[in-house]
Amino acid sequence: MDRLAAVDWDPDTYVRDAQAALDRATTSDEVEQVAVTWLGRKSTLKLALREVRDRETGIRLNAIREEVEAAVETKRSAVEQAELRRRLETERVDVTLPAGLLGDVRSRRRGSLHPSTQVRRDVEDIFLGLGYEIVDGREVETVRYNFDALGFPDWHPSRSPRASLYVDDGTLLRTETSPAQIHKMESTRPPIYMVSIGRVYRRDTIDATHYPIFHQFEGLVIDKGITMADLKGTLQYVLRQLYGPEREVRFRTHYFPFTEPSMEPDVSCFNCGGAGCQICKHSGWIEIGGSGMVDPYLYEFVGWGPEEYTGFAFGLGIERTGQLRHAIPDLRLLWEDDLRFLRQF
Ligand code: DAH
Repeated sequence: MDRLAAVDWDPDTYVRDAQAALDRATTSDEVEQVAVTWLGRKSTLKLALREVRDRETGIRLNAIREEVEAAVETKRSAVEQAELRRRLETERVDVTLPAGLLGDVRSRRRGSLHPSTQVRRDVEDIFLGLGYEIVDGREVETVRYNFDALGFPDWHPSRSPRASLYVDDGTLLRTETSPAQIHKMESTRPPIYMVSIGRVYRRDTIDATHYPIFHQFEGLVIDKGITMADLKGTLQYVLRQLYGPEREVRFRTHYFPFTEPSMEPDVSCFNCGGAGCQICKHSGWIEIGGSGMVDPYLYEFVGWGPEEYTGFAFGLGIERTGQLRHAIPDLRLLWEDDLRFLRQF
């Protein structure tokens, strides 16, 4: 049988041929292939070993096996070393790259803050810079705080369930952030310098300029000797921060149940500088909210003397500010979470 002939193999030939095969292998898979061919159960060597009958041949073939095994082992570790080195080279992590830009996510875009959130944060920064306190309000309010305390007459249309979202007869989703004024006045004594930012709810049909949820920021200042000049100066500063350093502010008389006198502040158009354009409807001015001197009725409501302090208050819309800043044509875009829109900010 020619398998027996293997017994007579020159060990040098077998070892040399195995070594030559190993020399050609460059990957650990190829090394394993060589090992199977030259040392595996069906290799000539193993088959020959199985046929061995005399001690001498056994010693000789085992010596060959050991030599080939050693050669495979040497090659195996050399190839593994090389592969490891290659992987360390190619998969090197550059720890100096910004987080989130590593490896296969290199092309991933960074997120950005929602335009309304950007405005809210700016508002917070501006008022913190002025030394104001930022206070939370309540989104679910009582009729007492939302209307009664603020001097809304019984007949005021905002009290109607057709205008506001009631939970029950005495409870509703707040229609404005102004109730935060009363909570603050009840919890502390002047000096008060506060701003409260949050969601308000109105029973409006959704269209390009209305949405039943929106955000306002509400300011309240009460101290000794506060005048309308303080209100005007404060709003001018705030609006210049929000809309640009060149902005002018003007006040038109108005009516709010909780301020006397009441005024609507306008800011000169940031787009045309006052010359008139589409954004300001060719008036040069943009309406941005309500304001006024705190009505003495509020002081009486919380149990203070009506003449002890004076103060001012204002309420402005967050979405409106974002809309004006970025010339966003439709308010609904701010609520639809469409990434094609949001990615622009
Ligand atoms: N709450 C009013 C609104 O939603 C805005 C407002 C007007 C707030 C005058 C005030 C203010 O604090 O003094 O229309």
